[in-house]
Amino acid sequence: MEFLPFWLCLGFPFLVVEWRHGGGAAAAASQGGCKVVDGVADCRGQNLASVPRSLPSHPRMLILDANPLKVLWNHSFRAYPRLENLSMHSCHLDRIGHYAFQGQGRLRSLGLADNRLSENYKETAAALHTLLGLRSLDLSGNSLTEDMAGLMLQNLSSLEAVSLARNALMRLDESVFEGLEHLRELDLQRNYIFEIEGGAFDGLTELRRLNLAYNNLPCIVDFRLPQLRFLNVSYNILEWFLAAREEAAFELEVLDLSHNQLLFFPLLPQCGKLHTLLLRDNNMGFYRDLYNTSSPQEMVAQFLLVDGNVTNITTVNLWEEFASSDLSALRFLDMSQNQFWHLPDGFLKKTPSLSHLNLNQNCLKMLHIREHEPPGALTELDLSHNQLAELRLAPGLTDCLRNLQVFNLSSNQLLGVPTGLFDNASHITTIDMSHNQISLCPQVVPLDWAGPSSCVDFRNMASLRSLSLEGCGLKALRDCPFQGTSLTHLDLSSNWGVLNGSISSLWAVAPTLQVLALRNVGLSSGTAEMDFSRFGNLRELDLSGNSLTSFPRFSGSLALRTLDLRRNFLTALPQRAVSERPLRSLQAIYLSQNPYDCCGVEGWGALQHFKTVADLAMVTCNLSSRIIRVVELPEGVPRDCKWGQVDTGLFYLVLILPSCLTLLVACTIIFLTFKKPLLQVIKSRCHWSSIY
Ligand SMILES: *[C@@H]1O[C@H](CO)[C@@H](O)[C@H](O)[C@H]1NC(C)=O
Ligand SMILES: *[C@@H]1O[C@H](CO)[C@@H](O)[C@H](O)[C@H]1NC(C)=O
Ligand SMILES: *[C@@H]1O[C@H](CO)[C@@H](O)[C@H](O)[C@H]1NC(C)=O
Ligand SMILES: *[C@@H]1O[C@H](CO)[C@@H](O)[C@H](O)[C@H]1NC(C)=O
Ligand SMILES: *[C@@H]1O[C@H](CO)[C@@H](O)[C@H](O)[C@H]1NC(C)=O
Ligand SMILES: *[C@@H]1O[C@H](CO)[C@@H](O)[C@H](O)[C@H]1NC(C)=O
Ligand SMILES: *[C@@H]1O[C@H](CO)[C@@H](O)[C@H](O)[C@H]1NC(C)=O
Ligand SMILES: *[C@@H]1O[C@H](CO)[C@@H](O)[C@H](O)[C@H]1NC(C)=O
Ligand SMILES: *[C@@H]1O[C@H](CO)[C@@H](O)[C@H](O)[C@H]1NC(C)=O
Ligand SMILES: *[C@@H]1O[C@H](CO)[C@@H](O)[C@H](O)[C@H]1NC(C)=O
Ligand SMILES: *[C@@H]1O[C@H](CO)[C@@H](O)[C@H](O)[C@H]1NC(C)=O
Repeated sequence: MEFLPFWLCLGFPFLVVEWRHGGGAAAAASQGGCKVVDGVADCRGQNLASVPRSLPSHPRMLILDANPLKVLWNHSFRAYPRLENLSMHSCHLDRIGHYAFQGQGRLRSLGLADNRLSENYKETAAALHTLLGLRSLDLSGNSLTEDMAGLMLQNLSSLEAVSLARNALMRLDESVFEGLEHLRELDLQRNYIFEIEGGAFDGLTELRRLNLAYNNLPCIVDFRLPQLRFLNVSYNILEWFLAAREEAAFELEVLDLSHNQLLFFPLLPQCGKLHTLLLRDNNMGFYRDLYNTSSPQEMVAQFLLVDGNVTNITTVNLWEEFASSDLSALRFLDMSQNQFWHLPDGFLKKTPSLSHLNLNQNCLKMLHIREHEPPGALTELDLSHNQLAELRLAPGLTDCLRNLQVFNLSSNQLLGVPTGLFDNASHITTIDMSHNQISLCPQVVPLDWAGPSSCVDFRNMASLRSLSLEGCGLKALRDCPFQGTSLTHLDLSSNWGVLNGSISSLWAVAPTLQVLALRNVGLSSGTAEMDFSRFGNLRELDLSGNSLTSFPRFSGSLALRTLDLRRNFLTALPQRAVSERPLRSLQAIYLSQNPYDCCGVEGWGALQHFKTVADLAMVTCNLSSRIIRVVELPEGVPRDCKWGQVDTGLFYLVLILPSCLTLLVACTIIFLTFKKPLLQVIKSRCHWSSIY
């Protein structure tokens, strides 16, 4: 027997947070400014200090949001007996008169979010109790504690939707929601709830949607709300989710447990209706292998539940519990950002309807693909950011991925995929194999080839549209490895030398390609210019980080919208870049980080008006040893760049030199005129020839 003891200690610091800021200055009451259209009076943000009394035509809906009302006086709405919806968000309300809503028997929806209703909550509660037909009540952002909320909701049995989000609730017991037998939707997100007593939701027989996101719940150990359809407990500190072991059918359809600290796959209620299960960002794993038990039945966890002075020990058999949960309707399963090292045999068999499976950012080392695992209904499989070194395909299996559309294997340690994996994947549109050290199979591999899966073959995958092979360490492409596909998106970036200096290996897919990324692949202009004329549908082209010295040619590609030429060796911007027709349709061109010659460029003037240069402010040119931003070049200078080859220091020297010389000659003449003897002394000593 393996025991995993767990202590759950309940005890959280009492958080007292002052949420509301101090009051703003009240302004003079204004009746004007409200727009009344079709029975809706909109008085938002009109600086009203009280409810306007003379709006025309008995509105059914009154919006008073963002007015500094502060106090809602008795009989404020006497003039409007037909109100159905009333909204007073952010009105600095700290007092609502007992009779404020007198006579509002038709009111169905009341919005009081972001006020200060905790201050006179008893009077507010009395006011709310006069609204016997209310269906929807929004009390979010009012610093209410559970006692205040309980008092306000008491006996409001007509309510169907209540929001208590962003308040100060901490502990829910049976009394808080007592008598709300028609409640369907309850929003409790962003409180400080750390404990929910057993019967807290028992009276809510109609409850369908419950949101407990952003609270401090440490565990849910006896979940028994069979009527609930939607439960959100994301962003808590859950370590356990354990459903009550009941035979009753649960209605749960969506369960969000993401961003918690779950250690084990949740032990779900017996419910055949769960279609979305979100478990992102937890600490989950499957531990059967870790404990090396000969039979999974021995995988047992023991809980020590400490509640006050009562200690209860519960023993749970993890595998049995898991194996008995009914996941047959599950369509969307997100297990990303966890610690799964492996998926137990039979795990994916339990989810025959699964269409989306996200396992991104786990520690998977191997995935075994077998009959019904993954299930045939799967359309999207994300295995990116794992440590996969191997995909193992059961022998003879051919149609395992028959409905798959998107397959993400990015950032693993794969060298290839098993032969035949994609054979019957006739719906696959997107494959991301970036950041794996794969190689492409040299020629068509025979169907019965059983060699090691050390290469990938994409030929003749007719449905494939998008392929990313970024950073795969690919060798120079031979023939056309994408023959028989209709690729529209292709990323070959960061595979140095993959094109071996020529884009001819892409010609097979040139007519269909719309987006092509060739970043850092070592392209150089070589002898011929890069010619993209065959790429008639190309919309986006990324050629950054190569060694291009001349501008690529695009005579046929009329569809080009975005062109990235950053980090190349372009020295000149040819005139045709500005005038050539395909390029005039460009919406964005990136040209910075090239060593342009400030003088040799004919087109700089045009470039200044070339609004599509997305990074014009960063485009620089080399002027001798200096780098100048093109936008700062003085007007007209590049055109007659006669001084261009000269260093600017020298340029200034040339400007100053004539004046200096003139001055020097003048000084010398004056000097010589008055000090002739001295000159003679110098002459005799140095044997200078006379300047006269
Ligand atoms: C509303 O009327 C009650 C009873 O007349 C009174 O006690 C209370 O102060 C009034 N509230 C306001 C806000 O005027
Ligand atoms: C009034 O409130 C109800 C319930 O919240 C809502 O369904 C309805 O759309 C609102 N009416 C208008 C005109 O916005
Ligand atoms: C709620 O209803 C109960 C029983 O119907 C009654 O005793 C109690 O006074 C009511 N509370 C309020 C605040 O109306
Ligand atoms: C659960 O609540 C969080 C926080 O409000 C939200 O981001 C998330 O989308 C919700 N989950 C679902 C399934 O709606
Ligand atoms: C698991 O148990 C078997 C036999 O009980 C043993 O041979 C094997 O070494 C164990 N493996 C690990 C990792 O402990
Ligand atoms: C638990 O504590 C309560 C009060 O705090 C006390 O009445 C009760 O007797 C205690 N039970 C045990 C088993 O100690
Ligand atoms: C302990 O847990 C068991 C099973 O969940 C339950 O039947 C029993 O009532 C619990 N005892 C206490 C004191 O909570
Ligand atoms: C694949 O996953 C990686 C990392 O999670 C992500 O950046 C990339 O956009 C995904 N690819 C596709 C095609 O969705
Ligand atoms: C799978 O593909 C092979 C050949 O590519 C074909 O003969 C076979 O019928 C296909 N199987 C299914 C189930 O489509
Ligand atoms: C790369 O190109 C050079 C010259 O064009 C050629 O000799 C060489 O065989 C090519 N390499 C590959 C792997 O195709
Ligand atoms: C442009 O200037 C940079 C920085 O001084 C220098 O490294 C580079 O070699 C120059 N390029 C050309 C073509 O002069």
